[in-house]
Amino acid sequence: MTQIIVSSGRPLTGACSVPGDKSISHRAVMFGAIAEGDTHIRNFLDGGDCRSTVAVMRALGVQIDVITPTELIVHGRGLDGLQEPTDVLDCGNSGTTIRLLTGLLVGQSFTSFLNGTAQIRRRPMGRIVRPLRGMGADIMGRQNGEYAPLGVRPARLRGIDYAMPVASAQVKSCLLLAGLYAHGLTLVTEPGPARDHTERMLMAMGAPIQRYGDKVSSERPRSPLKPLDLTVPGDMSSAAFLLAAAAIIPGSHITIRGVGVNPTRTGIVDALMEMGASIVFENQREEGGEPVADLVVKTSALRGATFGGQQIVTMIDELPILAVAATQAEGRTVVRDAHELRVKETDRIATTVSELRKLGARIEPTADGFIIDGPTPLVGAPVESHDDHRLAMAMTVAGLVARGQTVVHGAQVTADSFPGFEVTLQALGADLTVEP
Ligand code: S3P
Repeated sequence: MTQIIVSSGRPLTGACSVPGDKSISHRAVMFGAIAEGDTHIRNFLDGGDCRSTVAVMRALGVQIDVITPTELIVHGRGLDGLQEPTDVLDCGNSGTTIRLLTGLLVGQSFTSFLNGTAQIRRRPMGRIVRPLRGMGADIMGRQNGEYAPLGVRPARLRGIDYAMPVASAQVKSCLLLAGLYAHGLTLVTEPGPARDHTERMLMAMGAPIQRYGDKVSSERPRSPLKPLDLTVPGDMSSAAFLLAAAAIIPGSHITIRGVGVNPTRTGIVDALMEMGASIVFENQREEGGEPVADLVVKTSALRGATFGGQQIVTMIDELPILAVAATQAEGRTVVRDAHELRVKETDRIATTVSELRKLGARIEPTADGFIIDGPTPLVGAPVESHDDHRLAMAMTVAGLVARGQTVVHGAQVTADSFPGFEVTLQALGADLTVEP
């Protein structure tokens, strides 16, 4: 079990980059596998979750060459070229892997079984199982399909017109993938703007995906999907920890290069700016169908603000680090409409509150978010990651503004999404060490 030992007092300065986007890395491997031809992926996220995706796609007969840990070639087998796996598919800790993969597998001509860690087996799968069954999928799981392990048998799929009860890119993507194997049109309506990487990538591959306002459709392609040659943009969800850190650590001024700024992902930038942070997008460009920019952030006086409604889905993974920033803001910050935090890697309302309170933060949980009063001078203390990568990183940043020493236990989990998190902070000047 690794621990990060953090102290405050040093500003963050200089330039850095962050690893490739997790959502896009998963999709590039999965979708590349059903293209015809070779997909070349650069700046792939070599993190625990994406490794799970590589392993399961290999288990489905896909050859994936690792040129370097961040450069892969996926030898696509075409829409109907996946092979029956000889063992249970192990999705590790990765919700994106199990939910997208299930959508891909329900239309195959073979049986497969999906499982993952204890954490994955606690996360809700009924949200994909119910609509997939509505498409005719033959799928089973623990507690009538509410939880993994899941089993999938071949079935004839038909399109569905489905209004998602919660805005979820994983559910949307799962159904759009199943739609590629269904007769007729699959139409998904989303209650909020969930990340749209699936739509962008499948469209770039020539799949019949269409968007109409809050609806997206998919259907069986008439021609093979084209392989891609793409460089994955830096992950906004990783950059968020550095943005918040630089905004609240006195005297900081950093540039984060090459970050994906897809508008379905930039809720945290809007939120921090609304609180008074100085964040500038420089050198805006497009890479592989995704907008990218260099982000320049400086320390600023933050003030509390209220966040809810449709903005939440665009920063759902960033709410633990937003809570850390809010402890340093003047006044009250309210996060509401974020029930989804309860079913992430951990119940992130409960874990964010319990760990931040250990440093003296004034934070109250609510049914669908939290209320934070600030500014609070945090005081270093031992805290736990709860095996949640984003919680470990949020608490490390909290430790960078807390007086004295903070020890983040169970910090090896940062590599699930941000391998190099600790060295990136050290290179920017942070006072932290890692102990095995
Ligand atoms: C993801 C979607 C989000 C997000 C997760 C990655 C994706 O989950 O929290 O980290 O890659 O589609 P939900 O779809 O459950 O909101």
